[in-house]
Amino acid sequence: MKQRIFSGIQPSGNLHLGNYLGAIKNWVKLQEEYDSIFCVVDLHAITVPQDPEILRQKTIEVAKIYLAAGIDPEKSAIFIQSHISEHTELAWILNTIAKIPELEKMTQFKDKSQKNGRESASVGLFVYPVLMAADILLYNTETVPVGEDQLQHIELARDLAARFNKKFGETFIVPKHFVKEEGMRIMGLDDPRKKMSKSAASEYNYIALTDPEETIRKKIKKAVTDSGSEIIYCDDKPALKNLINIHSLLTDQTPAEIEKMYAGKGYGDFKNGLADAIVNFLKPLQERIGAISDAEVLDILEKGAAKVRPIAIQKIFDVKQKLGFII
Ligand code: TYM
Repeated sequence: MKQRIFSGIQPSGNLHLGNYLGAIKNWVKLQEEYDSIFCVVDLHAITVPQDPEILRQKTIEVAKIYLAAGIDPEKSAIFIQSHISEHTELAWILNTIAKIPELEKMTQFKDKSQKNGRESASVGLFVYPVLMAADILLYNTETVPVGEDQLQHIELARDLAARFNKKFGETFIVPKHFVKEEGMRIMGLDDPRKKMSKSAASEYNYIALTDPEETIRKKIKKAVTDSGSEIIYCDDKPALKNLINIHSLLTDQTPAEIEKMYAGKGYGDFKNGLADAIVNFLKPLQERIGAISDAEVLDILEKGAAKVRPIAIQKIFDVKQKLGFII
């Protein structure tokens, strides 16, 4: 029996290189060894306001990106979170064992609720990590491959699983995370102290996977750099370190090899080389995204949901029995 992995991405904003390098790139490799489930988490996306038409387009786009990046629907199940209503059902149940202070501690909630003022933050945004725990626990997930920013949420999923098991008897697998050191925290191009983010205030923060060539070149030209002119990979130069990381991950060269390539050259040459590397990587990806029809992707999503639904139904049945519900 293969071990199971589960992960997901919100169809909010534009998917960017951080999402690819921190998550999707690893999923493509992991699907060879694991029983893999990848979700488009639309229920999470609506914890902040979304335009319905854009949400619809983005949900399909995220699924196309999964496929174009190499997620194989023969090996992995790809589905839309809201197609399996057991996610919200389990989230409600887990809400009753989650504690307010443990949710108040969540840094993502603190960041997102501060952005537009705490008074306007939805209760959904507050309990967002509980829904994420439900996503994971519903499928007997053993491992959750994510970027570093999700580790606190996985810790909560572990705590809730263990708490439920203790109270009601063995029900959930206590999941562990999987992060890959190199891509786990891609920083913003406009500020290397903050992560690259879909919801960043400026589009100069990120390279979207769907950005056209001119935009990519413009964004890389504008990317902040550190003082000095040499291309060296070190902690004292966080902006350059981040750019070298991106270059290294996209071209499968080590940072040392990249330093060597640009020895004696300056930021101008390095940025041109980096922009080339990004364009060379994204162009074929974008062509593959463009070649997938909406009908094709919707069919794959429906089949994906049909594949995983029995697991979710079985788990909810078990949970309800343990809670003393009449079934
Ligand atoms: P989301 O949509 O914010 O991000 C999707 C994935 O991309 C990773 N990521 C990054 N990795 C490296 N550098 C970055 N700058 C960067 N930005 C984002 C994230 O860590 C994530 O792996 N709550 C989740 C979605 C979710 C989920 C789940 C994940 C819902 N249910 C169950 C795993 C399991 C989120 O908002 O990801």
